[in-house]
Amino acid sequence: MRFDVITLFPELFAPFLASGVTRRAYESGQVEVKLWNPRDFAPGNYKRVDDRPFGGGPGMVMMAEPLSSCLDAVMAARRDAAPVVLFSPVGEVLRHAAVEGWATSIGAVLVCGRYEGIDQRFIDARVTHQISLGDFVLSGGELPAMALLDAVARLQPGVLGDEASHVQDSFNPALDGLLDCPHYTRPEQWRSEGVPAALMSGHHAQIERWRRDQRLAITAAHRPELIDAARAAGRLNKADEAVLKKKL
Ligand SMILES: C[S@@+](CC[C@H](N)C(=O)[O-])C[C@H]1O[C@@H](n2cnc3c(N)ncnc32)[C@H](O)[C@@H]1O
Repeated sequence: MRFDVITLFPELFAPFLASGVTRRAYESGQVEVKLWNPRDFAPGNYKRVDDRPFGGGPGMVMMAEPLSSCLDAVMAARRDAAPVVLFSPVGEVLRHAAVEGWATSIGAVLVCGRYEGIDQRFIDARVTHQISLGDFVLSGGELPAMALLDAVARLQPGVLGDEASHVQDSFNPALDGLLDCPHYTRPEQWRSEGVPAALMSGHHAQIERWRRDQRLAITAAHRPELIDAARAAGRLNKADEAVLKKKL
């Protein structure tokens, strides 16, 4: 799997790619990441990549040609028909199901916008997918690109220390798309607070039931639409429904 990131700030990626548990995926090439700077494809001494918006107004717009030349070089190096993803508030908000799709794909070219955005003619001609990180505006597409790379890398086999780890995370279909349960660690008593008795019981079934109940209660309280989705998919059993009825 290979991701080519087109960014005016490739240096932002160095600490990200070298840190944390997902570093293994990038270093081993399990998730290969190549960085490309459109400035290297801009003509002239000034290597200009942006200009003022037609029609006036504040800020600058990324020019189509340096981006397009850069993308040509990426495609020539890849020699496949990789999707071209632009991070943009216009796109569909990134969710677990889409991350799972990217995690089993050939990868993609990730285009990071800056300034007021990118000349629309480049988007129309070359971009195949648009992804948003949420209903807010960032200064660039680099953080969304890192978010996608991180979410994809942690789903790769062997990347997390414990194979079962990501399967127990929020939104995972293995846990019926519910939110994660609370976690506790030592000390057993912290200030005036103890640890829920079920977790200290040593009974596997009791612990699992407690965790399931917590997932249900937290999801119902914070993201009730995820409960509706689990129910519609036939993923809630009678015991689950009884817990939900008691909590609500
Ligand atoms: C300052 S923003 C441009 C915002 C644009 N003028 C607008 O109002 O939608 C610069 C770049 O950051 C990225 N960006 C900003 N917010 C984003 C979001 N919520 N999701 C994904 N990318 C985002 C995009 O690549 C965008 O081109």
